[in-house]
Amino acid sequence: MAEFLLHVNGAPLHVNAPADESLLSVLRNRLHLTGPKYGCGEGQCGACTVLLDGEATRSCLVAVGSVANAKIVTIEGLEQNGKLSAVQQAFLDEGAFQCGYCTSGMILSATSLLQRTHKPTEQQIVEAMDGNLCRCGTYPRIVAAIQRAAQSMPAKGASR
Ligand code: FES
Ligand code: FES
Repeated sequence: MAEFLLHVNGAPLHVNAPADESLLSVLRNRLHLTGPKYGCGEGQCGACTVLLDGEATRSCLVAVGSVANAKIVTIEGLEQNGKLSAVQQAFLDEGAFQCGYCTSGMILSATSLLQRTHKPTEQQIVEAMDGNLCRCGTYPRIVAAIQRAAQSMPAKGASR
């Protein structure tokens, strides 16, 4: 066991864990942030996705000992002052979920995409979301939600 200082959702958090424990396990079981979900544990489904310094990252594949200096954002950290993020609101407005198990990972992957590419094409959305699986098959509504979020977000410079 070792003590780590993590930066999660804008707050410094101390946690004791083995250095090789997955970030997903630490978030869920030690910090009680249960938004990131355990799906496959092998980097194949995207249910565990969080943002690491803004990049969508499979937290099941990342050892907690390697992220002490990173800014970690989970679904719990997207809301600001009681207001859902544009992507969260768009998923709600489009009904882009059924069971919801994939939704946290979908929203964080979409958030990362829209931070890089403000007005993505449908093809860019499909490619960016390719690693996030939805067993309920809500893909068309997920794409629509990301398009809606892109429309609702203020432009921050040119699209890439
Ligand atoms: S649980 Fe991490 S990618 Fe499936
Ligand atoms: S909404 Fe059920 S897995 Fe996507």
